[in-house]
Amino acid sequence: MNGSAHFRRGKHMNIKITGTGSFIPANRVTNDDLSKIVDTSDEWIKSRTGIEARHISTEDTTTGMSVQAAKRAMEQAGVEPEDLDILIAATISTDKVVPGLACEVQSAIGAKNAFAFDINAACSGFLYGINIASMYLKSGEYKTALVIGTEMLSKMVDWTDRSTCVLFGDGSGAAVIRAEECAENREGILSVIQRSDGAKGDVLRCDNRPVNNFLVKREAGFSYVSMNGQEVYKFAVKTVPEAVKEAAGKAGFALDEVDYFILHQANYRIIEAVAKRLGQPMEKFPTNLQECGNISAASVPILLDEVNRKGLLKPGNKLILAGFGAGLTWGAAAIIW
Ligand code: COA
Repeated sequence: MNGSAHFRRGKHMNIKITGTGSFIPANRVTNDDLSKIVDTSDEWIKSRTGIEARHISTEDTTTGMSVQAAKRAMEQAGVEPEDLDILIAATISTDKVVPGLACEVQSAIGAKNAFAFDINAACSGFLYGINIASMYLKSGEYKTALVIGTEMLSKMVDWTDRSTCVLFGDGSGAAVIRAEECAENREGILSVIQRSDGAKGDVLRCDNRPVNNFLVKREAGFSYVSMNGQEVYKFAVKTVPEAVKEAAGKAGFALDEVDYFILHQANYRIIEAVAKRLGQPMEKFPTNLQECGNISAASVPILLDEVNRKGLLKPGNKLILAGFGAGLTWGAAAIIW
């Protein structure tokens, strides 16, 4: 459909999520399992984060998980791979440096009419991805996008560092987003807020390999995720409520009207603090971090898919999605389902 979808004058375009899908590796690792490899306990992890287990890939790849999530989202949306005009993958844990994840998925599913690229915005990646897709779709040039958030953080964390390894997990979530011509512009993705602050990037990082060429010889090291947990915590509880309010305000939602807040699943205490700052009850904040831990770019689309497949989302429901993480990056989106 590249370049061929033109919308009639006087008509609006709704940019709607028409299908969601997710995939989580089978291998479940409990807090007690981790207490056998690092000096930690179920009590410490649960009380500080709410996490009880995470799923760690043994056989799956970042591409393989993405393909499963993508197929489920496309099946629900009733679209074929050839229908995709845009394929965006948000990830910090590609299988290869190049080709990127989006191109690997394109090849695996046969989305031969799409253009495909990755974005690295860590745990905000899915939010960034749906905004980028929305912008393309609003142009009227394209009709159908697939946005995937996938991470295999198990290959990036230091399994001897108890302050980080207990937090993360693996998985993939995806959403099909379509431009639909309509009389009124009051459905779908109404507003997206994207923010970043590279100056504070050091508080959550994973370095690349050092320069090592024929002029400069350094010992090639392997870097793991490192984090100043308390700084990240403070950053999250300040920026997420601001972004949520801004996205809601731009969409014309009162916070009290919002049915669900689908937040990045890093820490239950962060979600509680955000709920408190927004003056909203925890019942409006579904969570899956108990079972999945923090899956960075995959957290928001996996949770959205779970809530969707439970039948909790009714047409007209008001949702706010929000993510935050390395970069630092953060973002929120206001959606009428
Ligand atoms: N098990 C047992 N003890 C642990 C531990 C673990 N897994 N990890 C750290 N500790 C210890 C520390 O070594 C420290 O011990 P000390 O007092 O003897 O030095 C103690 O627990 C307190 O550590 P601290 O880092 O101050 O804990 P905290 O209350 O800040 O909780 C986090 C740590 C990571 C749970 C918390 O800071 C957090 O959730 N931050 C946000 C992180 C996040 O969401 N990151 C992802 C963003 S996308």
